[in-house]
Amino acid sequence: MQTINLNGNWSFIRSSNQAYAAERIQGGEEVSLPHTWNAIDGQGGSEHYFRGQCWYQKTLDMTAEQLDKRLYLEIGAAGNIAKVYVNGMLAGESRCGYAMFRVALNPYLKSGENLIAIAVDNGSYSDVFPLMADFTFYGGLYRDVMLLVMEDIHFDVIDGSRDGIYLSQKRIDKASFELGIRGTVVNESVKPAAGKIDIMLQDAEGKVKLEHSLELMVAASEQFSIKSKVDNPVLWDGVDNPYLYTAIVSLSIGNTIYDARTIEIGFRTIELTPDKGMLLNEKAIKLKGVSRHQDYGGVGNAITRAHMEEDMSFISEMGANSIRLAHYQHDDYFYTLCDRHGMLVWAEIPFISIPSSDDSENRNAMEQLEKLIKQAYNHCSIYCWGVQNEITIAVENEHTYAAIQKLAATAKQLDPVRLTAQANIYSVDNDSLIHNFTDLTGYNLYYGWYYGNMEDLGKRLDEFHRAQPNVPVLVSEYGVDTNPMFHSYSPRVKDYSEEYQLIYHHNVIKTIQEREFVTGGYVWNMFDFGSAVRNEGGEKGKNLKGLVTIDRKLKKDAYFLYKAYWSNKPFVYL
Ligand code: GCU
Repeated sequence: MQTINLNGNWSFIRSSNQAYAAERIQGGEEVSLPHTWNAIDGQGGSEHYFRGQCWYQKTLDMTAEQLDKRLYLEIGAAGNIAKVYVNGMLAGESRCGYAMFRVALNPYLKSGENLIAIAVDNGSYSDVFPLMADFTFYGGLYRDVMLLVMEDIHFDVIDGSRDGIYLSQKRIDKASFELGIRGTVVNESVKPAAGKIDIMLQDAEGKVKLEHSLELMVAASEQFSIKSKVDNPVLWDGVDNPYLYTAIVSLSIGNTIYDARTIEIGFRTIELTPDKGMLLNEKAIKLKGVSRHQDYGGVGNAITRAHMEEDMSFISEMGANSIRLAHYQHDDYFYTLCDRHGMLVWAEIPFISIPSSDDSENRNAMEQLEKLIKQAYNHCSIYCWGVQNEITIAVENEHTYAAIQKLAATAKQLDPVRLTAQANIYSVDNDSLIHNFTDLTGYNLYYGWYYGNMEDLGKRLDEFHRAQPNVPVLVSEYGVDTNPMFHSYSPRVKDYSEEYQLIYHHNVIKTIQEREFVTGGYVWNMFDFGSAVRNEGGEKGKNLKGLVTIDRKLKKDAYFLYKAYWSNKPFVYL
């Protein structure tokens, strides 16, 4: 498979004129991707940010020879819904604004000039999640767009997985793991073909750890599944040793390689136990976590790999060992960075705050969950699939119960090994059934900010523990808005001072540390983020609960507090 980056030279216009599916944009602007139209207004530039439809267009020149290949358009994500037209014909669509999607191009392409026109819409739809949240719903083609050029026999690119290959792992005994490799080979030619799949696992130094081959006859679409034993692998041990192997899976017909994938894999076990909490490789681990949204000052969510690397260096330098990638599927590269830095990841979907008013089955949440799991499946850093966040804030009834249970069951079916998780509001009472719907339940607890006193946090956690002594508790969110320009000699709630943020976080750190039954917590949030609906702490359009400002220029004092507690490395406070 060859991938060609199509990020450059797009025409863009804010318009809902359907004629742009087939006609060239007049009077638009030239943009390059990643792009969002809310980079400024989505972070406080105005009272309201633009939510509606825009068009992106690009021409692709194709020779007859190029058209002999199988061509797919890969769109990293389009916020929030999108329709892709090729030469005026609808070729594909997406209603999952944070997931990658692909469109088969061959049926619509001709030799010569082709017009790709994509209508992207971040308006409000009652059946597309998120329906309500404080973060800005940026619109645009905000991740990479690629052209995939493939032979007519190849690993599947359309069934929903990223690589067409799923790698799974299971510990067999003390010394070895079972490595499962399954996937689908697709034959788009007219004749069946005899193929061979070769698997090679290399260690971090490039030494071959195992090799395996499988012959298969491919008619139209053939599934394969291989199980191999990996003896004594070096374990992926979180931040202490994020050791990764590389699996190279190739498909040949005769002596020619038709397709190949290179996938990083770390071997590890993760368990949630009633008495010792979370275990990574059979050792108890307390989650020192932060949450992250995917935006950045001045660029909205149209971030590049350099932005993601910068975010990761802030997080690892502070000494965190876990990240809650809230509240939706993040760029695949960020999960890769988590694999490489040993961060345990809580991955989740935007089934948040309120369920759909006219789809009682909340099918879009299910679709987003399936995409998340299939596309992020191969990342060893992910330990759980979060199926909802505060969905009961408006109403706790049997429809929401059924939706959460169905999402959790689907997650288990797609991935029987990883944990399911949910984040609930503080007021869900101890008798509520909701606690039992997932393996792990976190609570978003804002004592000392939205309600109560800081000290109430410990009391509430103890109350949960008394009610369910065998259930590990996690604080899935906590934090306070802070403007680093504000200071106080007598810090108090809602003064937005750095000093209040400091004492607040100090209290949480101690409260979690002192309680063995608390599996860990996630600071809300690592970075300030675009929240067009907010206007507080002297700043418009931002949630200021970050430990670092949205432009990443300033670390607030609480950042250094965490570093002092969490990191073993000596540091200078500046
Ligand atoms: C909620 C929610 C977050 C939100 C946060 C806040 O708990 O899950 O998305 O940003 O509270 O109020 O800051």
